[in-house]
Amino acid sequence: MLRSHTCGELNINNCNQEVVLCGWLQRSRDLGGMTFVDIRDRYGITQAVFNMETNSQLCLQARKLSREYVLQLKGVVRERENKNLKIPTGEIEIEVNEIKVLNPSKIPPFTIEDNTDGGDELRMKYRYLDIRRDRVKNNLLLRHKLSILVRNYMNDLGFIEIETPFLIRSTPEGARDFVVPSRMNPEQFYALPQSPQQFKQLLMVGGYDKYFQIVRCFRDEDLRADRQPEFTQIDCEMSFVEQEDVLNTFEAMVKHLFKEVKNLNFDSFPRISYEDAMKYYGSDKPDIRFDMKLTEITHLVQNCGFSVFDSAEAVIAISVKNSSEYTRKQLDELTEMVKKSPFNAKGLVYIKCNNDDSFKSSVDKFYNEEQLSNIAKSVNAKKGDLILIMAGEKERTQNAMGLLRLEMATRLNLRDNDKFSPLWVVDFPLLEWDEETFRFYAKHHPFTAPKPEDYHLLFKEPKKVRANAYDLVINGVEIGGGSIRIFDRKMQMDMFEALGLNEEEIIQQFGFILEAFEYGAPPHGGIAFGFDRLCSIFGGSESIRDFIAFPKNNNGRDTMTDAPQRLSQKQLEELNIRVIEKN
Ligand code: AMO
Repeated sequence: MLRSHTCGELNINNCNQEVVLCGWLQRSRDLGGMTFVDIRDRYGITQAVFNMETNSQLCLQARKLSREYVLQLKGVVRERENKNLKIPTGEIEIEVNEIKVLNPSKIPPFTIEDNTDGGDELRMKYRYLDIRRDRVKNNLLLRHKLSILVRNYMNDLGFIEIETPFLIRSTPEGARDFVVPSRMNPEQFYALPQSPQQFKQLLMVGGYDKYFQIVRCFRDEDLRADRQPEFTQIDCEMSFVEQEDVLNTFEAMVKHLFKEVKNLNFDSFPRISYEDAMKYYGSDKPDIRFDMKLTEITHLVQNCGFSVFDSAEAVIAISVKNSSEYTRKQLDELTEMVKKSPFNAKGLVYIKCNNDDSFKSSVDKFYNEEQLSNIAKSVNAKKGDLILIMAGEKERTQNAMGLLRLEMATRLNLRDNDKFSPLWVVDFPLLEWDEETFRFYAKHHPFTAPKPEDYHLLFKEPKKVRANAYDLVINGVEIGGGSIRIFDRKMQMDMFEALGLNEEEIIQQFGFILEAFEYGAPPHGGIAFGFDRLCSIFGGSESIRDFIAFPKNNNGRDTMTDAPQRLSQKQLEELNIRVIEKN
């Protein structure tokens, strides 16, 4: 070994020991007679000291070193005069008697500090430098810790980790696939898995009744802070279970993680139906760290001559605490904001509940004090609160109001990163109507079972069919989702039919899974957690990129290796791919 110790482990007990440390030069300080050099590795930072009086040659050598040089320092551990009790090595320093430069370094394009001067793009281009920073390093350590905890926990419960293939057939029913051309099968393509869904179900048919896998998944979708084109799932499946068993098993796993990592204990996670989540929070992933629930006030406000409310399917309000002082300008800004994407609302009505018990609203012309007071009562608004109201088609208004609720909570600082509010959202609708393609899609995926009591509605009133599907939501983030699966060929055929596929398409695309259902498929169900999202929740950050060693940017590019790239003509020919040049 080139070192005897790491840069994070020496302390007062090692005084007078001869040691050899290796690491990167974090910073150096010249104080005339003395030069101090901080040397860093992934374990910590140790101070090295050079004395001009006792060893001027070595001290001069130390002064020439610059940031990020890779050094080997030999010396003796001494007790420091000026102790730094904030770091574990802060009571000692190394009196160096030999410096070896293992490798010099160019001046890095940004400082390797917590508060770096490097912008996002620069840090992504030089990600190997970015990950030297404590912040990113701690995130990657947290990720490692969580993955080990999950693996051990699942193993103790008798789950086994089985790898499923990455080169699979493309299925059109989910998000867009990333595809891989096959050289040996000209003009044919594999797809990279969006999830191991079908394979884990086939494992159940194969008798592996408790499966899990920490697995990479690939989806060609638009990217956001919590979405990467390649991301990791904790993917799980169990046989001979009902919804209750799956929820209990994985609620216990999540509680275990909170206990081990955060030392937090939780009561049973609350459960809310999809319908109520939309009604009270305007979202299927409610952030319940704060209240500010939505209230439908349609019955209170219609038939008073205000045509916007009169013609609306739903009029929905929230009461924002202690915000009646909002100025005209601020309210105009809010109104402009909700008219834009993603809110897409037509407008915003406000009622200020003044401290002198009077009301001031943007609809004073249509509603008298008593009516405004009734609205205030129904949304539980008190003196000093601000009521915000939107109207229109019900689901759209719920969604817009849900976003406004989050916006107001952010403004009021109600979204506390140190607070964790997990909950289950259950009873999702089985199907979702798509206005663009004019057909139904599976809300979760086409292998999700309808609730037995709703199955008979599948062709009569498809929108009313609820699924045995559930999501785990923490602080407004969808952390996981799963369902009880269909395991009966006839029901699966019905489901595909409800999605508008004809028999030929069904057999062509899903024949293998339907056939498997004829060879003794057990009842089964499961769930998958977004592992990157789980890490980011535990790490208190909104961006999952911070928890991925080498992430893509929002255009799906890896700016460090500059991928994706065009292929050479030779590669294209081998793959039988002709590129059509666009002019
Ligand atoms: P689902 O599509 O809900 O379910 O995915 C499960 C979880 O994966 C995370 N996730 C993502 N994380 C980062 N970037 C992305 N692009 C991304 N997409 C999804 C989310 C989500 O809750 N096979 C089913 C699971 C099942 O039914 O068992 C599935 O993949 O946290």
